[in-house]
Amino acid sequence: MKLRIAIAADHGGFDLKQELVRRLADAVDFLDLGADSYDSSDDYPDFAIAAARAVSSGDVQRTVVICGSGVGASIACNKVPGVRAGLCHDTYSAHQGVEHDDMNALCMGARVIGIELATEIVAAFLMARFSGEERHLRRIDKIMAIEQGWATKEENEEEPADIDDNAD
Ligand code: RB5
Repeated sequence: MKLRIAIAADHGGFDLKQELVRRLADAVDFLDLGADSYDSSDDYPDFAIAAARAVSSGDVQRTVVICGSGVGASIACNKVPGVRAGLCHDTYSAHQGVEHDDMNALCMGARVIGIELATEIVAAFLMARFSGEERHLRRIDKIMAIEQGWATKEENEEEPADIDDNAD
């Protein structure tokens, strides 16, 4: 059975996404969340958030998100609870990020790497499995606690007290 993963890109990553989908179609069942065509005015958060939500909702277990540098994509993906995105331009990070950190979103920059390396990075990401080791789980639990803490804090946060502009 083919792996099902989401993939998305803005205009900066559009060509690389298209080529990755074409090259890996025999091995991977892609849920392509756009862009569907090249549009120089589109915005990476729209695609990154769609891909990250596909992971957080359980529709897919992993996603690949591409923009020009991969930086914006990773920042946006990491705002979605339950998503652990990493910016990887080497194969070591792509598999170690899964093995140690349970990374479920791989971000890449199409202006940084070419199709050959990107293909190998995606393969390393998809073939890797989380170790499940206690020390790795413990560290992920600490990250989840940060996420939970922010959620709780935002719900309970009181309005800040008025600031006295005349105070020294
Ligand atoms: C788009 O020009 C570019 O800013 C975007 O793809 C990405 O590199 C952002 O991080």
